[in-house]
Amino acid sequence: MAFASMSHPYWCIHLQAILIFCITLLWLQYTRVASASGNDTDYLALLKFQESISSDPYHVMSSWNASNHFCNWHGITCSHKHQRVTGLKLRGYGLRGVVSPHLGNLSFLRNLNLDNNSFYGEIPAELGRLFRLQNLTVRNNTLKGDIPINLTRCTEMRQLVLSSNSLTGKIPLEIGSLNKLERLSLFTNKLTGQIPASVWNLTSLLFLTVGFNNFEGSIPEEIGHLKNLSFLSIDGNKFFGELPSSLYNLSSLTVISVASNQLIHGTLPNNLFSNLPNLQVLNLDGNQISGSIPTSITNASFLQTFDISDNYFVGKIPSLEKLKHLQWLNLAGNILGNNFNNDLDFIKSLKNCSELEVLGLANNNFGGVLPDSIANLSTQLVQLAIGGNNIYGTIPATLGKYTNLIALALGFNRLTGTIPASFGKLQKIQLLELGENQFSGEIPISLGNLSQLVELSIPKNNLEGKIPPIFGNWKYLLFLYLSVNNFTGDIPFQDLSVSPLSKLLNLSHNSFNGSLPVEVGALKNLGTMDISENYLFGEIPETIGECISLQNISVLEYLNISFNMLDGEVPTEGVFRNASAISVVGNNKLCGGISELHLKPCPIKLNQQSKHRHLKFSVIIICVAVCVSLLLSSILVIHWRRKENKTSSSTAPTIDQLSKVSYQNLHSATEGFSTINLIGYGSFGSVYKGRLESEDKIVAVKVLNLQKKGAHKSFISECNALKNCRHRNLVKVLTCCSSIDYKGQEFKALVFEYMSNGSLEEWLHMDAESLDHQPRTLGLDRRLNILYDVASALHYLHYECEQPVVHCDLKPSNILLDDDMVAYVSDFGLSRLISTFNGTSNKQNSTTGIKGTIGYAPPEYGIGSEISTQGDVYSFGILVLEMLTGRRPTEEMFKDGLNLHSYVKAAYPNNLWKIVDSVLLPMQVQEKTKSAMEEISIEEPILKHPNEEKAIHSLFGIGIACSVESPKERLNMMDVTRELNRIRNAFRSCE
Ligand SMILES: *[C@@H]1O[C@H](CO)[C@@H](O)[C@H](O)[C@H]1NC(C)=O
Ligand SMILES: *[C@@H]1O[C@H](CO)[C@@H](O)[C@H](O)[C@H]1NC(C)=O
Repeated sequence: MAFASMSHPYWCIHLQAILIFCITLLWLQYTRVASASGNDTDYLALLKFQESISSDPYHVMSSWNASNHFCNWHGITCSHKHQRVTGLKLRGYGLRGVVSPHLGNLSFLRNLNLDNNSFYGEIPAELGRLFRLQNLTVRNNTLKGDIPINLTRCTEMRQLVLSSNSLTGKIPLEIGSLNKLERLSLFTNKLTGQIPASVWNLTSLLFLTVGFNNFEGSIPEEIGHLKNLSFLSIDGNKFFGELPSSLYNLSSLTVISVASNQLIHGTLPNNLFSNLPNLQVLNLDGNQISGSIPTSITNASFLQTFDISDNYFVGKIPSLEKLKHLQWLNLAGNILGNNFNNDLDFIKSLKNCSELEVLGLANNNFGGVLPDSIANLSTQLVQLAIGGNNIYGTIPATLGKYTNLIALALGFNRLTGTIPASFGKLQKIQLLELGENQFSGEIPISLGNLSQLVELSIPKNNLEGKIPPIFGNWKYLLFLYLSVNNFTGDIPFQDLSVSPLSKLLNLSHNSFNGSLPVEVGALKNLGTMDISENYLFGEIPETIGECISLQNISVLEYLNISFNMLDGEVPTEGVFRNASAISVVGNNKLCGGISELHLKPCPIKLNQQSKHRHLKFSVIIICVAVCVSLLLSSILVIHWRRKENKTSSSTAPTIDQLSKVSYQNLHSATEGFSTINLIGYGSFGSVYKGRLESEDKIVAVKVLNLQKKGAHKSFISECNALKNCRHRNLVKVLTCCSSIDYKGQEFKALVFEYMSNGSLEEWLHMDAESLDHQPRTLGLDRRLNILYDVASALHYLHYECEQPVVHCDLKPSNILLDDDMVAYVSDFGLSRLISTFNGTSNKQNSTTGIKGTIGYAPPEYGIGSEISTQGDVYSFGILVLEMLTGRRPTEEMFKDGLNLHSYVKAAYPNNLWKIVDSVLLPMQVQEKTKSAMEEISIEEPILKHPNEEKAIHSLFGIGIACSVESPKERLNMMDVTRELNRIRNAFRSCE
C-alpha cells in the first residue's frame, strides 16, 4: 500500500534500499560462509600439522581430536570473534616431526612457538604467507636448510628466533623488509656469508645474536644505526677487522660479546665505559685486541662480566672499586703487568666486589708478591687463577678462607715458603695447582680434608719429608703430580689404594725408598704410573692372594720404574710384552724380560727357594703392571705429555687450560653439546657428533649422565672393556675425558670414531624420521656381512680378549656402520669382564640390576642368573632373527608366550617365506606374497635364487639355535663365526 502511494523518486530510492538490503544480506551470508571456511581451513591446517608429527612422548596433543573444538586444543590460541587460530605454542614437548607447510594456511597466526623440540627438515617457505605473523620462534630443534626468503614478507615480524638448529646458507638480503624486527636470534647454526647490509637498517632491533655460525666479514660503522640495540653477540664466527667506533656510541647496549673470532683487532677507546653506561657484559675473549684497559672502567658500575682473556692487552689495571656487581673478571693470557712490585695493587680495589666468583689473572707479566688484600676478596670466589706470572714471596695463609673455591691455580711462579695448612679448609676444591714454584717443607696433613679433589699438582718444588696419610678422603682424585721434589720414605701405596686414583700418578724424581708393597695392586684403575728415579728396591711381599682379583685388570699401557734399585726377573706378560710401554732402565739387578729390553738373562734357578722367590717377584711385578694398567690411557698420556710440555714451555696449566684440555674442547667440538649435534642415547648418557678442532676430526662424544645411578660404573666398564680389547669390529675409543664442566660439576665423556652410516637400528627400521636421508635398504649380502662382523666382535670378546668380556647389551642401536658398511659393536656401558674359570662373571658384578634391554636380554637374566657369554649369544640370536624378519623382538604381537624366537621357529623350515623381511625376497616374489600370500602353496619354490634361499635358511637356523631358552643349549660364538663364514663363502661363490 505504501508503495502505491509513493511517487516515482521515492519508490526508486526504496527499491535501492531493498537492493542494498539484499546485497547486505547476501554479503552477510557470504561472510558467514567465508568465516566458516576460514575455520575449516584452520582446522584442516592443524590436522595436517598434527599428522606431520611422528612422536609426541608426553601426549600433549591428546586433546587434538574431533570431540574438542580446535580452539580448545592444547597449545592453540584463537581470536575471540572469529575463532581463528592466532597462536600455536608447543614448546619443549619433545615433539618430533617436520614443520608442516600447511601452517602457512593459518592466515590469522601471530605467534608460532615450537622451541625446544625435535622438529627436523626445513622451515617451510609457506610460512611467508602469514602476513600477520609477529613472533616466529623455533629455537633448539634440528631444522636445516636455508632461511626461507619468503619469511621476509612477514613484515609484522617482531621476533625471529631460529637459534640452535642446523640452518645453512646466508641470511636473505631481503631481511631489511622486516622493519619492525626487535629480536633476530640465529646463534648456533651453520649459517655463512656476511651479515647483509640491510640488517643495519633494522632500527627497532633490541637483540642481535648471531654467535656460533660461520659468518665472516667485518662489522661496519652502520651498526651505529641500531640505536635501540641492547644485546649484541657475534661470538664464535670468523669476523675480522676492528670493531666500528659507532658501536661505542650505542648507549643502550647492555651486552657486547664478540669472543673467539680471532681476527678482531684494534684497541678499545678510553671512554668506552662512559659512553656505554649500561654495559653489563663485555666479553672479548680470544681475539687480537691490544692496548690498555680503558680507564673509564673505573666508573662502569653495572659491569658484571669483564673477560678480555687471550688478547694482547698491556699495562696496569685501573681501580675496579666501583664495580659492585662484578662476578667474572678474566684477564688471563695477556701481557698485563710489568713484572713490578705493584702490579697486583688493583686487587685491593676488588674488596667491594662482593659478588666476584671468578678472578683470572694467569699467564701475564704480573710481578711482586701476593698482596695482603688478596684475603679481602668476596667469599663467593669459585676460581682463582694467578699461575704463569712472576710472583714471588709466600702464599698468605688467609687464602684458606675462600671455602667456595673449586679451582686454585698458583703454579709457574716463584713462590716460596710452605703450603699453608689452611688450605685444608678449601672443602670444595677440585683443582689445586701449585707446580713449578719453590715451595719447601712438607705436605700439610690438612690436605687430607679436601674430599672433592680431582687433581693435585705440585711438581717441581722443593717439598720434602714423607707423604702424610692424606689420601683416604680423596674420593675423586684422578691426577696426582708430586714429581721432582725431595720426598722420602715409602710410597704410601697403602694409603693411596684407598682413593680411586684412576688416571695418572707421577712420583718420579724424588727420594722415595722402600719396596713395592702388595697394596699397589689396589690401584687397579690407574692409567699411567711413573715412579722412576727414586730409590725403590725389589722387596717381595709375602702375600700374593690379592693378585687373584687382578685378573680383572686391563693391560698396563705405561709404567716407568726406571732408575731405581729393583731386582729380580722382569716378566714377559702384560705391559712387559711391549717395550715402548715400559721403562726399566737403570735398575742394574733386573734380568730377563723380552729381548727388546736388552737385559741380562736371569741366572738359572738352582733351588726351590729361589724359584719361589722369583715366582713371587714376577707375580708382584705382574701385579704392579696389571694394577697400574691404563684405564684411560690415551687421554692420560696426552694429558701427561701436555703437562710435561707445559713444564718446558713454562706456560701455566691454569684453570682455563685445564678445561681447554678436556671439557672445553669437547664443548666447542659439539657446539656446546647442542641438541642439533645429538645423535643418540647410550645406556648412561647422550652421544653427540662433534668436530675436534685440534685433530680436524669428526668424532662421536658420549657424555655420561652422572646423575644416573650406575653411570660412574658404566664409564669404568666401558673404558675397561675398550682399553682391553681392540678388534676391527669394535668401536674405537679415541680418548676419554674426565673433567669439570663450566658449572663446576664433574664431567665424564668418551670420544669415539664417528660412524657416518649411523646404527643398524636406523637401517633396519627406517621410518619417517630418517626419510631425509637416502633410502636405506640392506640386501642379504650386506646383512650377512654385518652379522659376520658382529659375530667376529663377540667371538673376540668372549675368547680372544686378554680377559673375556660380556657385552650385555647387544642390539641394533648398538651396532654402528662406517662408510664402507663395516659393522662395529659399541656401547660397552653394561659390559662385564669375567673370570675365566667358569665363563660367568663374579657375583658382585652380576647383582647390579641392569641387565641389558628388554627383548634382547636372555630370559635367565630376568630370574637373577649371572651374566655370561651365553647371554650375549642369546642377544645375537635375536639380532639374527630381527635382521631376517625385519621385526623387533619388542613388537606388540609378541606377548602371551609368543616371542620372536617361537614365531620364527613355528615357520621353520618350510614356511620361512611367510616371515622373511620382504626386502630380502626377489622382486617378483615380493609382489606375489604381498598380493596373494595365502594363495601360494607351500611346495611352490618361493625363492628363485637357490643360494639366497640356502643362506636365509641357514641364517634362520643360527638365529634359532642361538636364542633357545636354555643357556646351555645355545651355540657358542666360535661355532657361530665358523658357520657364518661358511654361509658367506657359499653365498659368494654362487653369486
Ligand atoms: C633444548 O631442548 C631440549 C628438549 O628437546 C631441552 O631438554 C633442552 O634443555 C633445551 N636446551 C636449551 C638450551 O633450552
Ligand atoms: C637503508 O636505509 C636507507 C635509508 O632508508 C636506504 O637508503 C638504504 O638503501 C638502506 N640500505 C639497505 C642496504 O637496505
